[in-house]
Amino acid sequence: MDSLAWLRNLKLPLIACILMLGAIDCTAEELALKLPPTAIEKWYKPASKRHVWLHNMFSMRRELQAIREYADAGDTELTKKWASRLVKNYRKIAEMVPEWEDELELEWTDRLEAAAATGDLENVKQSAKKMARSCTTCHREYRALAVALYRVPDYSKLMVKRGNSGKEIGFRDAMNELVTYINRVKIAATDGRKDVALKATSDLEHGLHDMGNSCASCHRGPEPRERILGKQTQKLMDELAQAIRDDDTKATGKTLGGVAVMACAWCHGVHRTAYDIKRLIIR
Ligand code: HEC
Ligand code: HEC
Ligand code: HEC
Repeated sequence: MDSLAWLRNLKLPLIACILMLGAIDCTAEELALKLPPTAIEKWYKPASKRHVWLHNMFSMRRELQAIREYADAGDTELTKKWASRLVKNYRKIAEMVPEWEDELELEWTDRLEAAAATGDLENVKQSAKKMARSCTTCHREYRALAVALYRVPDYSKLMVKRGNSGKEIGFRDAMNELVTYINRVKIAATDGRKDVALKATSDLEHGLHDMGNSCASCHRGPEPRERILGKQTQKLMDELAQAIRDDDTKATGKTLGGVAVMACAWCHGVHRTAYDIKRLIIR
């Protein structure tokens, strides 16, 4: 019998673990996340006309503040007014997402209501504090995931128009073209192939222009595009072409790095990381 058969039967990663990492635990760490109940989805666009869930949240934060400030000032009437709003909106949470009823401090809500009715401001404050604890607990667990699921946009169906040709390519394909041009500039410049580097710079410029036209599918105003792909980026692109023409490798590397930060990394910081997380958890 083949004396090494046992070795081949072992899973390759396990062997890699033993050889390279010695005593380190090689099982990948897992993290269990609780996703928000699907019932919440209908309180977001497009199922709702506006982000109803989020607006209820903003209202409650305002109401808590008003209650604290009026109770501190000893103003019973206005405390009452805001307390009744908070109570109503807080109970709405359980109506909108019944699965979350257990997350709520409904007893303290009843107490707040009763204390407000009798003008017992100390008790109002105490009850509001207890209710506020449930805000923090739920947020720690669910807020980021709810945002990723229901408010981070989906880029999967987005298309980018290429020049004036009327042709379209997928958003992700357009991204992969951009990174190909960037690396082509770098490779060609490193090897002194000026013409190739200049052609790739020009391709990159056109690619960024086309990409810039796609911003309008979500952004109404010109400002976001200007911030990422505006005059500053154009200036860097001009400097890049000049540096290549001058055979100035140092300036080429520096300006290319500048473009990659301003035109790529800044946009990724806002859009891509959030979208990556959305894709990980989307049901
Ligand atoms: C059972 C869960 C839950 C409870 C309880 C809850 N929230 Fe929220 N809250 C959320 C979720 C989920 C989001 C994320 C919504 C989004 O951003 O689209 C959120 C977002 C918010 C936001 C907007 C994001 C921000 O921080 O700027 C505010 C404000 C807010 N909640 C206030 C409150 C207040 C005040 C209370 C308590 C009185 C409260 N919430 C109780 C689930 C909860
Ligand atoms: C699929 C929709 C979508 C596309 C396409 C898109 N964005 Fe955004 N962008 C968003 C959302 C959503 C936000 C977050 C804004 C918010 O939370 O209100 C955002 C935020 C931003 C911000 C930060 C806020 C600001 O105004 O400074 C910048 C900058 C930005 N986008 C630039 C761009 C650029 C440049 C493009 C095109 C290359 C682009 N975006 C394309 C959806 C999109
Ligand atoms: C809207 C702002 C925005 C700009 C500007 C931008 N990107 Fe992206 N990029 C994204 C988003 C969003 C994704 C995720 C797309 C997806 O996964 O479908 C992405 C994904 C990518 C990917 C991964 C593609 C894949 O196959 O997973 C690469 C590579 C990339 N971008 C390169 C670049 C380069 C290089 C630049 C600059 C020249 C750039 N991007 C400019 C938003 C942007």
